[in-house]
Amino acid sequence: MIRIGISAIGCHVPERVVTNDELSKLVDTSDEWIVSHTGISERRIVAEGEAASDLGVHAARKVLQRRGIGPEDIDMIIVATSSPDYPFPATACIVQHQLGAGKAGAFDLSAGCTGFVYALDTAQALVAAGSARRVMVIGSEVLTSVTNWEDRNSCVLFGDGAGAVVIEALDDDTGHQIVHSWLRSDGAGETALLRPVSGSRNPFDPARHTAADMQIQMDGKRVYLFAVDAIVRTIRALCDHQGIAPADLAWIVPHQANLRIIEAAAKRLKLPTERFYTNLDRYANTSAASIPLAIDEMIDRSLLQTGQWVLLVGFGAGLTYGGNLLRW
Ligand code: UT7
Repeated sequence: MIRIGISAIGCHVPERVVTNDELSKLVDTSDEWIVSHTGISERRIVAEGEAASDLGVHAARKVLQRRGIGPEDIDMIIVATSSPDYPFPATACIVQHQLGAGKAGAFDLSAGCTGFVYALDTAQALVAAGSARRVMVIGSEVLTSVTNWEDRNSCVLFGDGAGAVVIEALDDDTGHQIVHSWLRSDGAGETALLRPVSGSRNPFDPARHTAADMQIQMDGKRVYLFAVDAIVRTIRALCDHQGIAPADLAWIVPHQANLRIIEAAAKRLKLPTERFYTNLDRYANTSAASIPLAIDEMIDRSLLQTGQWVLLVGFGAGLTYGGNLLRW
């Protein structure tokens, strides 16, 4: 069986750092509350006019350079995002044009913060089926453009960023194999995390709707409880499928939403919290970009070794959840 997986990774975050103290000037909050309830200390926020495709292109150029290939070597571009440049056309098409990837197809994938996990499995399937040789998967988000900056329950949680990987058949002993993926959805949670207005369900009506109706609305408690359960179920399902125990995992790279969610899941799995890599203190929740941003940082810090089991796990709007088991 051919090994298919990640051959290179590259990320990009905006320069501007926004601290919790700065947010406390916008809404009734404090550094103490945000750190104690979420683990977040600061986040990156785009410059005015910067969109998801701009961050995605920066990350994509980095990954092409690291892989030592050109844009014409990419057959498909998948952008996982919940904050696309436009409802349509797809952000992936804008990235494709900016990169000069003239031989690539392009589409967006909407699976909330689980988008990167879903896109890895999709990319692997395209390569396995022979319809693409190399797929560029990009998680890119500018969630701060759809954040309600008057809602302290949600505005403190999000940040902007992008991460890109190349998925292809791997030569012996190179790259990081995607061994198995497990994807699920619980659409009964439709209203737990959404932007209610501007789609076909509720087209924008200036007589009835305000800006807040087009921004993120979230039932934090409900998402919290779902998220802990989603992490535990995903890890157990992937480990059971592979015939390994959660304790055999060298690293778990969770979607970076809230440190307390990760601690609660670790406790239920009887795993040390340190087994879960986190960098949400500096980037907050960057949705579909959070897992590649974490992996890139782990590589920089030489935390990942050949042969290790590494599990990526995501959860988010949909409600979607799932993960990928990698052999590093
Ligand atoms: O990718 C998935 C994205 N979504 C998530 O990850 C969200 C999951 N949920 C959570 O992370 C947590 O539920 C939150 C961080 C959103 C909230 O934390 P919590 O410990 O569940 O707080 P809570 O909702 O129980 O609120 C406790 C209190 C409330 O005040 P009262 O009603 O007790 O007076 C809130 O109004 O904290 C208040 N509060 C805040 N206070 C200061 C909520 N947000 C803030 C804030 N600053 N930013």
